[in-house]
Amino acid sequence: MGEPYIRPRKGSIEKPLRIAVLISGSGSGLLALLNHQQSNKSPHSTKLIISDNENAGGLRHGEDFAIPAVAIPLPDFADKSQQRKIHENLIHDMLIDSNIELVVLSGYMRILTSTFVSKWKGRLINIHPSLLPKYPGAHAHRDALADGAKITGCTVHLVDEGVDTGEIIAQEEVEILNGDTIEKLQERVKKIEHELYPKILDIFCSQNV
Ligand code: GRF
Repeated sequence: MGEPYIRPRKGSIEKPLRIAVLISGSGSGLLALLNHQQSNKSPHSTKLIISDNENAGGLRHGEDFAIPAVAIPLPDFADKSQQRKIHENLIHDMLIDSNIELVVLSGYMRILTSTFVSKWKGRLINIHPSLLPKYPGAHAHRDALADGAKITGCTVHLVDEGVDTGEIIAQEEVEILNGDTIEKLQERVKKIEHELYPKILDIFCSQNV
């Protein structure tokens, strides 16, 4: 769909890929990634954290790990499409200024426009809390429970112009238990995400294009 994926260069322990992590909330996935990078020889290194939400708890991990962490909230514009465009341009400029080579979405709750995606396609990766193509969008756990699903999970995928439709890189299943609530399920899926995403990023970043 749309533009081709253009993958980043092959990262190495000596020359890790420069990563930016985009978040909107607590940043538990970001923390797992930073801990992984700190305690393993990794072909990627987080150089920038961006949140669209000034109050995102995850921004504090920047301070703890001495990594620049900035909030870029939506600018004040009546015209929504103009607002989105300017917001994404601010993010794009910051990524370029920091020589970012791979953009990692980790609980980033905004849908990116095809204009932004086309600039980063193949170098823009996301984790989604369901076994895509099942339950795309912002309410994956709610939708899985409402559907009476017995199995859900998480998916690491490249981002394309659609919503959670890009090329799937890896998936892991999580069982849905009797009495599960959105919160309980989310907690168990996040545990799996925190192991899967860093591991898959290691593989993705060290592969030849
Ligand atoms: C994760 O479940 C991720 O899959 C979803 O948002 C959650 C991020 O949570 N898109 P956190 O901010 O990393 O705690």
